[in-house]
Amino acid sequence: MPLVTTKEMFKNAYKGGYAIGAFNVNNMEIVQGITTAAMLEKSPVILQVSAGARKYAKHAYLMKLVEAAIIDTDLPIALHLDHGEDFEICKACIDGGFSSVMIDGSKYSFEENIRITKEVVDYAHARGVVVEGELGKLAGIEDDVNVSEADAQFTNPKEVEEFVARTGVDSLAIAIGTSHGAYKFKPGQKPQLRFDILEEIQKRIPEFPIVLHGASSVPQQHVATINKFGGQMPDAIGVPEEMLRQAAKMAVCKINIDSDLRIAMTASVRKHLWENPTHFDPRQFLKDGRDEIVEMVRHKIKNVLGSSNVL
Ligand code: G3H
Ligand code: 13P
Ligand code: ZN
Repeated sequence: MPLVTTKEMFKNAYKGGYAIGAFNVNNMEIVQGITTAAMLEKSPVILQVSAGARKYAKHAYLMKLVEAAIIDTDLPIALHLDHGEDFEICKACIDGGFSSVMIDGSKYSFEENIRITKEVVDYAHARGVVVEGELGKLAGIEDDVNVSEADAQFTNPKEVEEFVARTGVDSLAIAIGTSHGAYKFKPGQKPQLRFDILEEIQKRIPEFPIVLHGASSVPQQHVATINKFGGQMPDAIGVPEEMLRQAAKMAVCKINIDSDLRIAMTASVRKHLWENPTHFDPRQFLKDGRDEIVEMVRHKIKNVLGSSNVL
């Protein structure tokens, strides 16, 4: 089976009241862990690559890893560029075989965001590739971009119809209070998302797939494991899973998760090396990391996204 776009996935997810997990990848163990989990759960899956991941692993290696995962699992897999910052990187990924790209023009004015997004949409659609745009600004860290809380901005529902109509995007990432990274809410702060904004957006663009970035929940047992075995993670608070379940039942069809995979893998590798100080074969500790990713992604698919057994 070749790579698929997200078109069919989102149509079914919207109808079925669930979301598709979009998990960030940058090496073999992560690709294997995610796709094994999706296969066991009989779920479609999106593998996404940031600019940093593409630089780290190299485009050709990532393509081949994902091709291998398709052969191994026979799953419908979409390969997506996460947070493409300009036309050039989107073009490189479209030309290089990705089935989906995100053009993140959220740092620009509304008009400039429309201009750059439409440019990517025109190029992508002519080649059978789908495009995710973004309106509103999430706080947090992506690669070298660090959006402070003061600069973060919720999506303005009044802008979505015009943005979608004028750009022709296939899905829209919105800002309703999530942020990137492991430190989303301050210790003692009650996590809150603006479901009222999501609802208003859903009313204005019915049946249009919405994307939620910054959706890691930061499982406390893994943070505790990291700290027990020599790590130093300060109080880290993520998005409560019941809020993600609620979003998945609404218009949110794609939920982005990266930090939780990093935390799960790091916890198990740290534990392994601490408990086995004589080990020096990477296969020994990377296997534990991969196994933990399988567990984490199965849990997300089954208990949070709701996309088990839809294939
Ligand atoms: O949205 C950000 C993703 O977690 C990717 O992070 O840019 O450090 O690879 P990265
Ligand atoms: P997290 O940092 O919450 O995992 O978000 C990942 C993301 O949004 C990737 O685009
Ligand atoms: Zn993101």
